[in-house]
Amino acid sequence: MTTYNIALLAGDGTGKEVTDEAVKVLKAVSNKYSFDLNFEPALIGGCAYDKYKTPLPESTLNLAKAADAVLLGAVGDWKYDTLPAEVRPEKALLGIRKELKLFANLRPAAVYPELTSISPLKENVVANTDIMIIRELTGDVYFGTPKGIEVKNGEKYGYNNMCYFESEIRRIAHTAFKVALKRNKKICSVDKANVLDVSRLWREIVTEVSKEYKDVELTHMYVDNAAMQLIRNPKQFDVILTGNIFGDILSDEASMLSGSLGLLPSASLSDAKNAMYEPIHGSAPDLKGKNTVNPIATILSGAMLLKYSFNMNEAHEDIVNAVRKALKDGYRTQDIKQEGTQITGTSQMGDIIKGNIELNN
Ligand code: IPM
Ligand code: MG
Repeated sequence: MTTYNIALLAGDGTGKEVTDEAVKVLKAVSNKYSFDLNFEPALIGGCAYDKYKTPLPESTLNLAKAADAVLLGAVGDWKYDTLPAEVRPEKALLGIRKELKLFANLRPAAVYPELTSISPLKENVVANTDIMIIRELTGDVYFGTPKGIEVKNGEKYGYNNMCYFESEIRRIAHTAFKVALKRNKKICSVDKANVLDVSRLWREIVTEVSKEYKDVELTHMYVDNAAMQLIRNPKQFDVILTGNIFGDILSDEASMLSGSLGLLPSASLSDAKNAMYEPIHGSAPDLKGKNTVNPIATILSGAMLLKYSFNMNEAHEDIVNAVRKALKDGYRTQDIKQEGTQITGTSQMGDIIKGNIELNN
């Protein structure tokens, strides 16, 4: 039996509650499909800072590098908000993405038929929406230098640098075109080329790469317009390809099409075997220990792990179907509650989804 090593980084806040449920479901799937998952826990974020005075200890990083995949909960808590930027929990997330060279962030925003009515948007606008946002994850203004806060002309001055090498644009563009080939073969590349030089280069390189993928239709859109179009008519999008900061913003916006941040998973991939899977939501420290957060985003991140790291498409589908059956059967966590449905806690939702997987064993 093949054994895969998974670095399990629960992180802060409700991170442990949601990863516990994903582990529960993944274990059920591994039993069913006869493979072994060996979960190795380690600290990341604020909890790591408390113990080691750094949010990303060397030992955690080494474990993540050596693992076949990383499953992450979330990092951050208000109590670390006053820490210097260099040791804030978020720094660990950026650090691990950079160190593992996870340049390709896949954030699917699909609307479940069972949940169309919980979206704050009109049902007919969001129904059947199925978008894959591909966000560049290791460049852009997130990592650009020079950066800092200093005193200039007698006043404080803060600055960051939005920048991309053409090689960085090229490799994420290739990822997007390959993903698009397996979907509806449409990419909308989002930039701000009417204003930013870095975006003009982005557009030039993406267009150049598109010549190698004749079957994929490429369009370009300015980010402000894209933000509007996502709400006006989300069904026009198949794959959205964009840079780090625009992708950060648009993916939070897109989550509202599905109705809750608690539903959206993500995969962060590299050119090598290194890969990390995490919900797109944060650590929700106010909900910690209450057994109320939605574990579905993390459970679906576990499904993406099987698909993208181990090529297990059937097991991936099995988890997605188990989640959908739980929703169809009327089970809901607080964030997605609707009239006539049954509210379940975090661990109960995990149990129900696990039960659905075992059902057709
Ligand atoms: C995300 C988050 C992170 C980001 C934060 C927590 C650093 O918002 O994964 O979208 O900005 O990338
Ligand atoms: Mg974000």
